[in-house]
Amino acid sequence: MLTDVVSRRADFPGLFTADGRPWHYLDTAASAQKPQVVVDATAQAIGVDYATVHRGVYARSAEMTLAFEAARRKVARFIGGQEHEVVFTRGATEAINLVAHSWGGSQLKAGDRVLLSTLEHHANIVPWQLLRERTGIAIDVCPLTPDGRIDLDAAERMLTPAHRLVSLAHVSNVLGSTLDVARAAALAHGVGARILVDGCQAVPRLPVDVAAMGVDFYVFSAHKLYGPTGIGALWARAEILEAMPPWHGGGAMIDRVTFAGTTYAPPPARFEAGTPAIVEAIGLAAAIDYVEALGVAAIGAHEMALTARAREELRRLNSVTVFGPDDAAGIVSFALDGVHPHDLGTILDEEGVAIRAGHHCAQPLMDHLGVPATARASFGVYNDESDIAALLRGIERTKRIFG
Ligand SMILES: Cc1ncc(COP(=O)(O)O)c(C=O)c1O
Repeated sequence: MLTDVVSRRADFPGLFTADGRPWHYLDTAASAQKPQVVVDATAQAIGVDYATVHRGVYARSAEMTLAFEAARRKVARFIGGQEHEVVFTRGATEAINLVAHSWGGSQLKAGDRVLLSTLEHHANIVPWQLLRERTGIAIDVCPLTPDGRIDLDAAERMLTPAHRLVSLAHVSNVLGSTLDVARAAALAHGVGARILVDGCQAVPRLPVDVAAMGVDFYVFSAHKLYGPTGIGALWARAEILEAMPPWHGGGAMIDRVTFAGTTYAPPPARFEAGTPAIVEAIGLAAAIDYVEALGVAAIGAHEMALTARAREELRRLNSVTVFGPDDAAGIVSFALDGVHPHDLGTILDEEGVAIRAGHHCAQPLMDHLGVPATARASFGVYNDESDIAALLRGIERTKRIFG
């Protein structure tokens, strides 16, 4: 399984330096490199196939509309939903803002509570704080277990009938810890709350089935799934979407407009005002084809094996603290004693190794870990042991430089 996937480095034109040497890209959790098939599909869509969607009476536009809607069907199938339940957004951030604004703004009121967790990305914190300012809801924060998982036993104790929403990351973008989504959904539903799952770091590495997991909302971004930037998806159960008011107004989301008033299109069009990200949707569909041909489970297993190896090797260095659970999915955060992660990242860059250094848009988690920042290596379908070896060489050099 491992070796099949390892050979995929050659599929990615971005994984080589200008002089043709391999680039040790360990920042897939921030954004994945794109396989040539996605580059080609995108170029074709913006080139010879290009036309707008949903409006043109000419054949090219009708064909593009078919391709665009086929991309929606592909997204739905990929995560186990129905096509009319998939709203294209600019990404996960916009999808969560959409839910907070439309669903939260219409369904929640002062005194209602939302449960988040310590490890959430800012994209799953700030929209709820904005909603809190508008409506007076309260936000509770579920703690983590000592090894960095969302503590669902604690969540069970915290949840009350006042909780209307539980909103949690499926996989942590810092620690790689994976949520037991089915249990979280059962806990939320047990008190009558809805559950939103931030699937940004899960869809590239775990098979996802929203129906089997029993969630109400699921969001992700295409660019972490080997697809283009500028597009992502909100999936929500049909009856929930039906009851949600529009949030952005404009073309494409209406039924009938007069100056006296406007009626709205049914979902998903109701939530897609303006000309959509047509080319990006085609690119996302190509990315899903690419990932499905390899198998998401196989990609996830490949990354987990690399992550386990990296954790083991990093621990051997003594001067390194490794965060997160031993079964982390594709992501490992660590700290090198006496060296700021930014300095480490800069020296690694000189060695042709790209990691992320910073707070990873998870400042509350940094506060919890007691550090201002971490270094993070994250793996993708193209990584192999040579990337780990290069990372370790770079860390050793950094240690020598810093004495
Ligand atoms: C867990 C998680 N949630 C949300 C986001 C936000 O994604 P985007 O910036 O693509 O909207 C990210 C991206 O880093 C993430 O890792």
